[in-house]
Amino acid sequence: MSDICKNWTQWLSETRFSHMDEIQKEQTFRWLFALRDVVISNAGIKNNDKIIDIGCGTGLLSFGVLEKFQDNVELIFSDKFEDCLVECEKILKESNIKNRASFLQSDCLDIKLPDNAVDVALTRSVLVHIADKQKAINEIYRILKQGGTYSAFEPIIRSNTRYHELCDPSSITDWEEFKKAEDDFMSDDCDPLTNFDAQTIAQNLDAAGFSDGNINVEDTPSTYVAKKEAIDKWFDSAPSPDRPTTRQRFLKYFDEKKVNNYIEEVKLALDNKMITVTSKTMFIRATK
Ligand SMILES: C[S@@+](CC[C@H](N)C(=O)[O-])C[C@H]1O[C@@H](n2cnc3c(N)ncnc32)[C@H](O)[C@@H]1O
Repeated sequence: MSDICKNWTQWLSETRFSHMDEIQKEQTFRWLFALRDVVISNAGIKNNDKIIDIGCGTGLLSFGVLEKFQDNVELIFSDKFEDCLVECEKILKESNIKNRASFLQSDCLDIKLPDNAVDVALTRSVLVHIADKQKAINEIYRILKQGGTYSAFEPIIRSNTRYHELCDPSSITDWEEFKKAEDDFMSDDCDPLTNFDAQTIAQNLDAAGFSDGNINVEDTPSTYVAKKEAIDKWFDSAPSPDRPTTRQRFLKYFDEKKVNNYIEEVKLALDNKMITVTSKTMFIRATK
């Protein structure tokens, strides 16, 4: 883990919001709860289903399931990292929700469950952190019962608005060079964050054996007034606890002076300007 963020629990509860003001934070929560409800609804959960939330983090999907179904379903909170399971267990104890929940520390590339074990598998923003997405999807297929459902949400990072696109080229020294660098690391096939899109996930589902993989791609535009303090944080917050920040990515291409100058110029170009950034996302639904 990095010196910016010690673990996933800290990233999920603090780091990911660090560049946002209160209004943006509230919008983000509303967006997260709305997409959580779609993932759960797409799963077609029935009473007595056995459900696994793979890469549960602090339990966004799991607690959504429990709020709706309580102890009418069997729920497995699962994550590779212990801190996430400890946090979920603590929240669950404090909630007094009636439940049939259990906790499974497991890598999604080698899920510690037998074949045909669950009716429903859920993920939200987990595949995006896994380099070998085919292997993860194969595992999900393996643990699902025949007729079981995989329902998920994933961001398609490589299609996100890029920083250089927001700035007038004339306001940035060496804009072309920075564009080239950003385009390069935003489409890096070796980086889990950027090595996929809806088409590759559809191929992965197919290859795993899913017969009816369905992917629904959405654009989520967000329009707001940029502030230079927040722009600093765009460059200095990590996309996950163990990944480089955007500043660190640029430092692979340019020296520190040049990167610092670029960030200052982006701040000058965008401070107090209305900007629109768009992120592309996908809902995944597939039956075994
Ligand atoms: C962006 S968080 C999403 C958490 C949660 N699903 C949510 O919707 O808030 C990514 C989660 O994936 C988990 N994760 C990362 N690599 C994993 C792996 N190889 N196997 C299982 N979980 C993993 C992390 O611990 C983290 O909880």
